[in-house]
Amino acid sequence: MCVTFRYGRTDCNPATVAARSFPSSIANLTKTLQFFASEFGFTSRETVALLGAHTLGEAHRENSGFRGRWVPRKDSFDNDYFVKLADGGGVSWSQTSLQRGTLYQWDGDDASGRGHMMLNSDMVLYRDISPDATTGQTLTCPTNPALCPYAATKDIVEEFAANNAGWMAEFSDVFEKMIEHGSTNLQLPA
Ligand code: HEM
Repeated sequence: MCVTFRYGRTDCNPATVAARSFPSSIANLTKTLQFFASEFGFTSRETVALLGAHTLGEAHRENSGFRGRWVPRKDSFDNDYFVKLADGGGVSWSQTSLQRGTLYQWDGDDASGRGHMMLNSDMVLYRDISPDATTGQTLTCPTNPALCPYAATKDIVEEFAANNAGWMAEFSDVFEKMIEHGSTNLQLPA
């Protein structure tokens, strides 16, 4: 994968620029897509491609309250996020309550023997889980998201799950757009 990096961004002045919020981890599909559309002008497809970044790294209780990696190999950059999301590899997902029912995530197990997870903002790309707006709790299919209808972006998830090279090309394009958003006259390193 090739991401072109251009330098020259200037820091904003926190005294004059209003604080910005991050996208919510418990949001439904509409809110997740709206965030990236309004902040970056991204299409649904670009947003789905971008969130495949969660194939890397993990969540930490002490940071976000969530815990675990999205895929068994957290240091390998590939489309496994979409494979797992699209029920690939025989993953069985169920919703887990964290922090005494104030926070929810999806935990999955597969043949790798390593547990992994999805946030609501990931799961909503594939299943219409109708999470509660305050806690993120799903009442419709908490022990099996496959019992909930497909999400409007389901076909995109399945396309990326089936085509690693295609996803990487689209990820690279949208990632560049994201890191250059709001900047002009950026320069290529000499
Ligand atoms: C709906 C949008 C998003 C939400 C709700 C979200 C939420 C989160 C949360 C809760 C964590 C765990 C933080 C922790 O506990 O340490 C995380 C980690 C991470 N996110 Fe996202 N994220 C979003 C979009 C993105 C995007 C656009 C990228 C990059 C293109 C990204 C890349 C990562 C990576 C690489 C980690 C792992 C960090 C680590 O291992 O320490 N995320 N995200």
